[in-house]
Amino acid sequence: MIYNKVTPLLLNKLQQIVGESFILTDNENLANYGHDETEKLLYLPEVVVKPRTTKEVSEIMLLANKEMIAVTPRGAGTGLSGGALPIYGGITLSMERFNEILDIDERNLQATVEPGVINEVFQNAVKEVGLFYPPDPASKGSCFLGGNVAENSGGPKCVKYGTTKDYILNLEVVLPTGEIIFTGANTLKNSTGYNLTQLMVGSEGTLGIVTKIIVKLLPYPKHNLLILVPFRSLDEACSAVSEVFRAGFIPSAMELMERDALDWVSCYVKSNVVKIEPDIQAHLLVEVDGNNMEVLVKEIEAIAELMSKFDIADVLFAESASQKEELWKLRRKINEAVMVNAVSKEQDTVVPRAELPKLVKGIKQIGNNYKFKTVCYGHAGDGNLHVRIIKGDLTDEQWNGEYIKNAIAEIFILCKELNGTISGEHGIGLIQQEYMGIVFSEKALNIQKNIKQVFDPKKILNPGKIFR
Ligand code: LAC
Ligand code: ZN
Repeated sequence: MIYNKVTPLLLNKLQQIVGESFILTDNENLANYGHDETEKLLYLPEVVVKPRTTKEVSEIMLLANKEMIAVTPRGAGTGLSGGALPIYGGITLSMERFNEILDIDERNLQATVEPGVINEVFQNAVKEVGLFYPPDPASKGSCFLGGNVAENSGGPKCVKYGTTKDYILNLEVVLPTGEIIFTGANTLKNSTGYNLTQLMVGSEGTLGIVTKIIVKLLPYPKHNLLILVPFRSLDEACSAVSEVFRAGFIPSAMELMERDALDWVSCYVKSNVVKIEPDIQAHLLVEVDGNNMEVLVKEIEAIAELMSKFDIADVLFAESASQKEELWKLRRKINEAVMVNAVSKEQDTVVPRAELPKLVKGIKQIGNNYKFKTVCYGHAGDGNLHVRIIKGDLTDEQWNGEYIKNAIAEIFILCKELNGTISGEHGIGLIQQEYMGIVFSEKALNIQKNIKQVFDPKKILNPGKIFR
């Protein structure tokens, strides 16, 4: 794909649209906007543009479309698949000024919010009026709701409450050609035509730029209880997960942390809330929530009892809000801790929940064959396992070449064999696209490419993502 360069004349036109202060071209800023949280990848945009209104976004897209300039939309840059990397240079369209919660509709349990609002800021705002927005990525303190929509982000609560897609009712979107549409209606039910809303969710900024989000909210559950269960075998920890659901419980979180994950993160955040005995190989962090404390106590005790059929050590019942927060902090910081500790690559595997033991066993086997270690953790209740492959003793050539790609392909083939897929919540973005053929037939991939063509005939919006 040949894109045109951003010329001084074009810069001038962009300035007229958004104002001089919202155009960045200096090296430091270009570098700041040239990476996300995916490995150490860096691609410089030619200009960063920060619009404030839907109309401005529309005018930018009209211009870019006419002049054949690549445009990469960007939220907070917390992505783990390289979706916000401007690999063809051009314009990075930062949505950070779309940071207003426009309406919290307490009558209908809905809200209208702009895409640059931070997930946790929004969660806290609706909580103030007794409402609940469950999707809670580990990066909730910094990630934007727009990015969550783009990647169909998840998080621990999704095991009970569903992912971002389950909360998006309607979207205002600027198309790559500059037109502005709403994708659906602000209703809980909708059987009216193709579901453009859900097509947008998870489309990683390749089909349009979301400028308004209408979300569904729930009443905030009054209570929760949290336990941490130490297992002497990783395999047993994985097996225990599906047993809990089969016994009739739906926890509001069911997270797995392999031994190294918890060791490394405890050290990273300097926490000693968990004493990890030498024979412990994995932990499950299990939460239940609801409005009736008595019921919750019974539930969590029953879950702990069920776990005791496995080879576990003493279960830790979190006693205070601060202890709960500390345990959650440990869980949320794993990704960061591993990244700081070791050169690594993250895979976002997902399989039907009961296949988790086979997945983990297979991944460890592949690691043995290719001589690398993996640190596994994540949303076990959803069968969504984050796998950090550690470079360790691999050579740079192995790490950057076909060797590691073959290993990753083996992991993904295993996911497919277990009826799973290659990303549960991080998206395909830049780094996983070469593996799409493992999970989609050529026909199924071509349908997706044709959809892209309908929305973006000149392929200017987030080019080079999901597939080429
Ligand atoms: C997590 C992110 C990496 O669950 O998805 O920590
Ligand atoms: Zn996750």
